[in-house]
Amino acid sequence: MKTVRCEQTAAWSALQAHFDASGRHFDLRRAFAQDAARFATFSQQAPEVFADLSKNLLDARGQALLLELAAQCGVPAWRDAMFAGKAINTTEGRAVLHTALRAPRGAAPFGDEVHGELDAMLAYAEGVRAQAAAGEFSDVVNLGIGGSDLGPAMVVPALDAFAQRGLRLHFVSNVDGHAIASLLRGLDARRTLFIVASKTFTTQETMANAEVARAWFTAQGGRDVALHFVAATSNVPAAAAFGITTTFGFWDWVGGRFSLWSAIGLPIALAIGAANFRQLLAGAHAMDRHFAAAPPAANLPLRLGLLDVWYRNFHGFGSRCIAPYHQGLARLPAYLQQLEMESNGKRVDREGRPLALATSPVLWGEPGTNGQHAFFQMLHQGSEVVPVEFILVRRPAHAHAELHAKLLANALAQSQALMLGKSAEVAAAERVATASPKLDRAVLASHRSFPGNRPSTTLVLDELTPRALGALIALYEHRVFTSGAIWGLDSFDQWGVELGKALCTGLLPRLACGDTAGLDGSTAGLLQRLRPHAR
Ligand code: F6P
Repeated sequence: MKTVRCEQTAAWSALQAHFDASGRHFDLRRAFAQDAARFATFSQQAPEVFADLSKNLLDARGQALLLELAAQCGVPAWRDAMFAGKAINTTEGRAVLHTALRAPRGAAPFGDEVHGELDAMLAYAEGVRAQAAAGEFSDVVNLGIGGSDLGPAMVVPALDAFAQRGLRLHFVSNVDGHAIASLLRGLDARRTLFIVASKTFTTQETMANAEVARAWFTAQGGRDVALHFVAATSNVPAAAAFGITTTFGFWDWVGGRFSLWSAIGLPIALAIGAANFRQLLAGAHAMDRHFAAAPPAANLPLRLGLLDVWYRNFHGFGSRCIAPYHQGLARLPAYLQQLEMESNGKRVDREGRPLALATSPVLWGEPGTNGQHAFFQMLHQGSEVVPVEFILVRRPAHAHAELHAKLLANALAQSQALMLGKSAEVAAAERVATASPKLDRAVLASHRSFPGNRPSTTLVLDELTPRALGALIALYEHRVFTSGAIWGLDSFDQWGVELGKALCTGLLPRLACGDTAGLDGSTAGLLQRLRPHAR
């Protein structure tokens, strides 16, 4: 399929004209004052996820033009090609079929293979859970990084309410020995299961940690490596060479950052069990169907992806803040960083032509309300506009209703404050006990005023169930797909991680021997400084 240059479409020109004429000066307060139905018009219920888009800098005309842009850029055709298993990851010549991992039996390409592997993985997980209930296993350590870590590391704490008690899940990703050393100190080798999670089974960090874990296990008197080490990988021979006989596989058409639905999800299955894991898949599948079949104007991933393009390329916003008001979703910002920035952090299109516009924004964030006491100052009064994404859960899984009400009220207040702001006049009329008595009232008022008109999106789940979380994650996947398809880039490769890996391979022996020949001055100087025996 031909890649359309989005900036050369008629819809793009119309969007630019619309932005210049009114979009640039769009005011949320005015928009709500003029349109009592704005919330209804700009909110929608998708599977498991309700989205309020009304506090975004977008009017009906802008929305219509963005939908037109999607049509002119062929987003529906690229989407259909993905679901059909066409090799849309063009630079690696691979299909992109994470949606096949959560489709019911017989409903997607490779269904038999997928369900065979899924059944085996879930049966194994149930076996370990039974052993844990009998006291034979107490701890599971997932050794993996990037997509082989972030998905399970995000989902397991999020679904803590559904987890089997007495089986603790740990995640070691960094090659920093600090991580594994402090974890191993508290483990009992006889009751610990290690999962070596690596699609390639060659990733430096994971292999190094797996070696450390195996050495520790044998040093502790552990004999049966085959019983205490399992692998989630598409490189079965390498896992076997490591001494692992229990391996759950997946395929080259599952990208690392889309792999939590595959054998990489084993830690999730161990924590929440087979039935709940299937619910996670079912929720994602429901969102897949929505993305595949909902009309464009009511297609939430499509609308969100287009909004991202609007903000990045027309408003010029360079980042987006992810603010989950749920402590269990603390790792969601990190998960989404890989999903979006590894997917769309590109500067050439599918055909290798330089892109003429900005692509992936920087994603960042922390759970609310913690973020409020850290960086929300900048969101409210800083010099840059950062769209914020609030993720709220209506009913908590705990019994502290009074805490939950405070949590939700805080989220509402923040999105309201971002939008409404506060004028210097209003600020001047307020008495402030803590203000310096020497300060001029007008000066203080200017410090205490808020520009407002700062955009936010609010996503609401009724409960943080496996099904709802599956739908939420799939929503993000398809949203990233949408903006990537508009920009015409390959959202499924990650060549940008290769150079650093290769240079590291060259530097590692130099660190030991001190050879700096041919290195740039900075690297040579730092290498000398960092050598273990440097003085
Ligand atoms: O960081 C690059 C990357 O290839 C990611 O895309 C991937 O999720 C991660 O490394 C881990 O790779 P593997 O599962 O092969 O160990």
